[in-house]
Order: sequence, then C-alpha cells, then structure tokens
Amino acid sequence: MKNLTKSLKGKLIVWYTGSILLIAVYFWFGVHILSIPYGSEIFIALLILLSFVGFLLIKKITESLSALTKKVRTISSTNLNERLTVEDPDNEIGQLALSFNELLNRLEDSFSRERQFIGDVAHELKTPLANMKTGIEVVLSKPRASNEYRERLAECLIDINDLSTTLTEVLDLAWTEAHVNQKLTKKVNFSKSLLELSEIAINLGMTKNIEVNFKITPNIWIYGERQKLSRAILNIIDNGIKYNKTGGNLSVILTKKEETCILQISDSGVGIPRADIKSIFGRFYRGKNTGKTSGSGLGLAIAKSIILLHGGQIAVKSTLNRGTTFTISLPNAL
Ligand SMILES: Nc1ncnc2c1ncn2[C@@H]1O[C@H](COP(=O)(O)OP(=O)(O)OP(=O)(O)O)[C@@H](O)[C@H]1O
Ligand SMILES: [Mg+2]
Repeated sequence: MKNLTKSLKGKLIVWYTGSILLIAVYFWFGVHILSIPYGSEIFIALLILLSFVGFLLIKKITESLSALTKKVRTISSTNLNERLTVEDPDNEIGQLALSFNELLNRLEDSFSRERQFIGDVAHELKTPLANMKTGIEVVLSKPRASNEYRERLAECLIDINDLSTTLTEVLDLAWTEAHVNQKLTKKVNFSKSLLELSEIAINLGMTKNIEVNFKITPNIWIYGERQKLSRAILNIIDNGIKYNKTGGNLSVILTKKEETCILQISDSGVGIPRADIKSIFGRFYRGKNTGKTSGSGLGLAIAKSIILLHGGQIAVKSTLNRGTTFTISLPNAL
C-alpha cells in the first residue's frame, strides 16, 4: 500500500477506487439500511469533497510538470551543466527528472568531447599552416636563388601532405559517426582487399628494410565498406612499420573461426609501454615511444571506430622492445 501511494498512478488509483467504494458504501449502508435524513444533500457534499481531492491531486501533478517544462526550456548547449531538481525520486515525475538529468550527463559528456576534438583538430591544422606562412614570408622577404625557392616549396609540400592526411583522417572519423547505427549490407571479399594492400605494405616496409609477410585464407567475405576497412587496416600496418626497427618484420595473417574471421597484424617493433595501452585508441593520442616519427595520433582511433562499425572488435598485446600484435575479429558474411 505504501508503495502504491508513492507513485502518481498509485495515488490516482487509490483516489478513484476509494471514491467509488465510498459512494457505494454510502448508498448501501447509509441510504438503504439506515435511511439517514438529508441523504441526497450528503451525497452531493460527498461528491464535491471527492472531486476536490481529485482536483488537488491533478493540480499537484500539472504543477510539477509545468515546473519541469519551464526548467527544461531554459537548458541549451550553453548551460548543459545545469540539472533538474528531483523532488520525489519515487514518483513518475521524479523518475522523468532523473532520466532527463541522465540524458544531460550524456549530452554534456559528448559536447565536451566534441569541443576537445575541434580544439585538437584546429591545433593540428594550425602548426603546418603557421610553418608554411612563416616559411613563405621569409623566402619572399628578399630576392633569392632558385634552389632556395625549391627548398622552401619542398618544405611546404611536406606541410601540405600533413594537412591533407589530417583532413582525410577527420573525414574518416566523421564518416564513422554518421554511419553509427546503420546496417552495412554490401558484401566485401576481405581476403582480396587485404591482398590488394600487401603491395602498399611491402613498399612501405622497404623504406626500413622490413620484411612483410601476408598469409591470407582465401574467400573470406564480410559485410562492409571495402575502402574504409582497407584504411583501418592500413593504419595498423603503417604503425607496424613506423614503430618497427630497421630490418625488422611484419606479418598479416587472416584466418576463419566459425562465424568470425580473425586478422592478426604483428610487428617486431619497439612495443607499447603498458601505461599507454589504454590510451592508444583515443583521438590525437601519441605515445611516449613515437620518437621522431610524424603523425597526428588519429590512426588507431579511426581504425577502431571503423572496426566497431563493422560489428568487429580490436585488441592489442605488446611487449616492450619485442613487438606488438593487433588482433581484429569481424563477423563473416553469410
Ligand atoms: N605497432 C605499434 N608499435 C608501437 N607503438 C604503437 C604501435 N601502434 C600504435 N602505437 C602507439 O600508439 C599511438 C597511437 O597510434 P595512432 O596510429 O593512433 O597514432 P600515430 O601513429 O601516432 O599517428 P597517425 O597514425 O595519426 O599518423 C602511437 O603514437 C604509438 O605511441
Ligand atoms: Mg598511426
């Protein structure tokens, strides 16, 4: 009974059944058995009393709802830190306010992550742009020999390449976010896509004399976007070469296990410090082991979001100075 009267629905039920019972008892006992005088006057008074109780109950509900609506209207992206006051967490309006506060928590969290992301992107674009600007200003400040112009242009090209890579990465991230709850229905021959990547990987490996081996079980199909998947895998292969030792090796192995395919990308590189492991999939995170290598720290964040979008998972195991293995599992197409 105590629980019943805590909720607004319970209170309404108690009021409604209580009123009917009271009227029935009044008629049966008071009017028929006792034949009390002024029966109809008392009945009208009883009806007025019960309606008044009902009115008070509904007034309380609408007042609480109006107060809630008024407060909700004042909340926008600029004051997402505000919360609704929960007067009674046991009734429906209290529950509504609690759920709304939870929604605000999630929104505030995602807004602050977006803000951080925009700041990081701006920072990432600002550095090469500033480099180019000062470089060009210096070279234009007085007449120079043609080789000096050539040198400056070559430096600008490096910065432009960095800018273009960052922009492609940001677009990839935007693509994964726009497709989060969409079902991917295109069938992709994953084995074939990986073999197509082998040539790029071998060429990348040559720059550091790294032996690249591909062992691909043929005809493994999955549902997804071939280009995006290739980009995700290439980001991991790129790391396997970038953070490898000269003369090291890199292997890419694709196997099938029941309804899943497993892709293992292992390198013999510098390894990832234990403290970095939990952060490497974060946007713009670059580990302490990066040395002089260039990069924006978006590669693994993109790879992970593309793999998750394909219903897959990614895990990493690493030993310092021995190497790293990324294991990706993806559901096979039927
Ligand atoms: N195979 C690997 N071996 C050692 N460290 C790695 C490896 N892969 C990733 N890492 C670590 O994880 C960090 C994040 O990797 P991620 O690919 O996201 O960024 P990045 O390689 O630094 O830059 P980008 O890929 O955007 O050019 C790297 O900076 C590096 O510290
Ligand atoms: Mg990378």
